[in-house]
Amino acid sequence: FPQFHFSQKLTQWYEIHKRDLPWRNITNPYYIWLSEIILQQTRVVQGMPYYYKFVEAFPTVFDLAAADEAEVLRLWQGLGYYSRARNLHATAKIVVDEYKGVFPDSYQELLKLKGVGSYTAAAIASFSYNEPVAVLDGNVYRVLSRVFGIETDIASNEAKKVYSEYAQMLLPLQNADTHNQAIMEFGAIQCTPGTPSDCMFCIFANECVAHAQGRQAVLPIKSKK
Ligand code: ADE
Repeated sequence: FPQFHFSQKLTQWYEIHKRDLPWRNITNPYYIWLSEIILQQTRVVQGMPYYYKFVEAFPTVFDLAAADEAEVLRLWQGLGYYSRARNLHATAKIVVDEYKGVFPDSYQELLKLKGVGSYTAAAIASFSYNEPVAVLDGNVYRVLSRVFGIETDIASNEAKKVYSEYAQMLLPLQNADTHNQAIMEFGAIQCTPGTPSDCMFCIFANECVAHAQGRQAVLPIKSKK
């Protein structure tokens, strides 16, 4: 399996190019969780003011759990997908009632929380506890598909298994937090959807299968479901 120092190159790139975002360089799982729920289906620039609003209104999971649902929904206004806000509130109550306000500290336990799927559990486990579990989101699918020439349809049933094997193999055991942030950032600002503008200068230009074949616009393959 061709690793070609993938993680070292990626994290070096990240240290130079990363955006300064408020949920980076923190480890409080409540804030990590809050940011990841807000950022589902929402762009960073759109989500950021909401993140600040929520942190200010509900500085701890106890504050969020004790809030009126109407107040939570009011603060959520403009973000859409209101089920996210309701799940957010419901999960906060569960964390308070069943976990004494302390977020579970492992991927497997986090997965048991309502509204926390494999992506969010991996994000919290790695960013808060540096547990070596790889995140898989749209950015990660795109980067892996192109660099390694993975042709598996990301809308297919086997996609998750295929891509998570690659993602997990590439993940270093020591710096899972930085690696995970870095691969998402790389997908967000360098290995962009459609036809990226500067593949010539990409750190993976020599290894990238999509670049060699001129197939950036085709990969990742995503059939309509
Ligand atoms: N989108 C989802 N999670 C993110 C994160 N942690 N940083 C930047 N963009 C994201």
